[in-house]
Amino acid sequence: MKSKYIEIPYAILCELTHRCPLSCPYCTNPVELEKKSNEIDTNTWKKIITEASNMGVLQVHFSGGEPTIRKDLGELIRHANLLDLYTNLITSAVLLNEDKIKELYDFGLDHVQVSFQDTNAKSADKIAGYKAHNKKIEICKSIRKIGLPLTINAVMHRQNLHNLEAMIKMAVDLDAERIEVAQVQYYGWALKNVEAFLPSREQLDITTKLVDKYKKKLKGILVFDYVVPDYYARKPKVCLGGWAKRFINITPSGTVLPCHAAESIDYLKFDNIKDKSLSWIWKNSSAFNEFRGSSWMSEPCMSCDRKEIDWGGCRCQAYALTGDPYATDPTCELSPHRKVLDKPLSKVSRKKIPDFVYRKRKVNKRKNIGIGHNSQRILKKN
Ligand code: SF4
Ligand code: FES
Repeated sequence: MKSKYIEIPYAILCELTHRCPLSCPYCTNPVELEKKSNEIDTNTWKKIITEASNMGVLQVHFSGGEPTIRKDLGELIRHANLLDLYTNLITSAVLLNEDKIKELYDFGLDHVQVSFQDTNAKSADKIAGYKAHNKKIEICKSIRKIGLPLTINAVMHRQNLHNLEAMIKMAVDLDAERIEVAQVQYYGWALKNVEAFLPSREQLDITTKLVDKYKKKLKGILVFDYVVPDYYARKPKVCLGGWAKRFINITPSGTVLPCHAAESIDYLKFDNIKDKSLSWIWKNSSAFNEFRGSSWMSEPCMSCDRKEIDWGGCRCQAYALTGDPYATDPTCELSPHRKVLDKPLSKVSRKKIPDFVYRKRKVNKRKNIGIGHNSQRILKKN
């Protein structure tokens, strides 16, 4: 045991499946996706949710891939609801209809988060690799008609930031409660497309001003969450509140992770819910304890006064960019590895934007369902 910082987890994210009709080039899911045949069954998910409730967890987020592909979604929402857990559905919405949303609402769904790729169908559908945009608009209207609170997850980058005001207007017109202006974060598949998505410093400054302006203007109408691209930050973000502090991610096959990208740190050993209880994993898993707290840090983090504020930034990003998961996150200005950001940043001003690299999807033509993922996502933080 490396640390005394074992707290009560606040939320679990249930990645019910990696199957998804969309194939967004900024997908945060792993490069290698889980197959349907490896997905855990309904009873195992129910057991996880019950255990989470017993541990003091307050929120259950259902995500994917596209979680509405799973036929047992309603049953799982009802199970969580009976345990008094707050339930959030993170969805691309393209497989929903009004009856289905009504059914999920009746099962006890508390909130829906719908990802948008852009504000017009031509661009949005190109990014998603699927005709999704108009369907999303229609479903958002149904979500609000039924009375469910709605968050618009607006994934922004150099190719759509000029539409930010239109995106905010769209969120207001759809009567959303929140908008997440989520700049692409470069994990999983997104790292392959960093040069296609990374905005310029000028774009970022304009965006920040716009978000500030609309935050004030729309106070009481629309709540804003704003995530800047890490590569321009001076200090790293507090990734999910700190490694193994507040959050548990369960993959479609039942592997329990401290964050959605943790398996990218390939030498860590992760436990599976088929072998160990959730509570045992939270307290004892070697992977959870590896970066819990601050005792694992080296300089400059170890003697930094922010070490128990940002917890050294993001371990997955440190590993992806430096090959060393113990390294200070290179998005910190004090990191000796900061120069690894120079290469992608130096290409931002180029006029020619590289084409997206999409996953090669295996498509079930009858249902038009491939394996991909819908969005970047931010969980409710409070
Ligand atoms: Fe955070 Fe480490 Fe940078 Fe300090 S040196 S701000 S703890 S990442
Ligand atoms: Fe894994 Fe940040 S995504 S620690």
